[in-house]
Amino acid sequence: MMEGTSLCLPVVVLLLHCSPSVPVTVSTTKSKVEVEEFSDAVLSCLFHTEKDPFPRIEWKKTGKDVSFVFFNGQFRGSFEDRASIAGATVTLHKVTQEDAGEYRCEISASLDTVSLGETNVTLKVLVPPHTPFCEIPTSAVTGSGVQLRCRDQQSVPPATYSWFKDSRRISVPHHANATYLINSHTGILEFKSVTKEDSGRYSCLASNGVGSPKMCEGKHMTIEDVNVTAVVAVVMVVCLLVVVCGCGGVLLHRNGFLTRHRGRSFWISQCHGAAHISSQTLHRTEDTSNVNYIPPPQEPQDFKHTQSFML
Ligand SMILES: *[C@@H]1O[C@H](CO)[C@@H](O)[C@H](O)[C@H]1NC(C)=O
Ligand SMILES: *[C@@H]1O[C@H](CO)[C@@H](O)[C@H](O)[C@H]1NC(C)=O
Repeated sequence: MMEGTSLCLPVVVLLLHCSPSVPVTVSTTKSKVEVEEFSDAVLSCLFHTEKDPFPRIEWKKTGKDVSFVFFNGQFRGSFEDRASIAGATVTLHKVTQEDAGEYRCEISASLDTVSLGETNVTLKVLVPPHTPFCEIPTSAVTGSGVQLRCRDQQSVPPATYSWFKDSRRISVPHHANATYLINSHTGILEFKSVTKEDSGRYSCLASNGVGSPKMCEGKHMTIEDVNVTAVVAVVMVVCLLVVVCGCGGVLLHRNGFLTRHRGRSFWISQCHGAAHISSQTLHRTEDTSNVNYIPPPQEPQDFKHTQSFML
């Protein structure tokens, strides 16, 4: 029926005469459409009918749920005011990721013998990279393993990542004994064991061939021989323990408590209690000056301490 088949035309005509049931034919010039987001997407649908000059044209978005795109001469849903049709070919304007998916053009020519025909078009909406989210620790201890992460969830197709240190690109190592690894697909830069030379300003670039690549803001990572924060925290905790237990010990000693008592386990249970508990106990012992004194269980809280007292 096209020019290319002119040689076969007599045969086709003959066939037409023998059996008039030539189905409505529907086709597309492009079954896979890829466009960048916020641009126009043309979903082509060509049809040829036997004799029905005005077949019914319908477009549906298929997939998990089927919804109408073009039905009864009108665009439906979110396409109502951002789509146009020429013949059966539809143009969607300003497409977003939401519009990506499978579409089906259905032609029904009720006057034709075989009245239904359809064609499918897949729309892929490409999304350029957004500024990636970068996880870069501000400090790490020499010799420790460190991971730097870079991620851009939205880009279509998924972005690949490259890392920069002090604005210079870090090459992906190819030898097995490199001190670091870069996975350009997951965006992870991993140091097996950091050294002071690894200190620097790190940043990461996400690209996917759509639009321009995007870089996250660089962050400084400092490698220290000791973890200063942890050391300060440990020192403070130790000081606190010394002060709390030391005070308790001195007071107990002054009351002749430690020598008279079996000592050690009592001493430990006192240390486990907070400062106010030991001082409470001390007040009581001061009052009675009796080792075997058991405070009356006023509150359940107190009762518990009495238990350890007896150990
Ligand atoms: C279009 O896709 C549907 C599934 O969604 C399938 O059943 C149908 O056969 C396809 N039609 C064509 C012409 O490929
Ligand atoms: C890797 O190790 C081999 C031998 O163990 C050594 O010759 C080579 O220089 C090392 N490469 C790097 C980059 O350290």
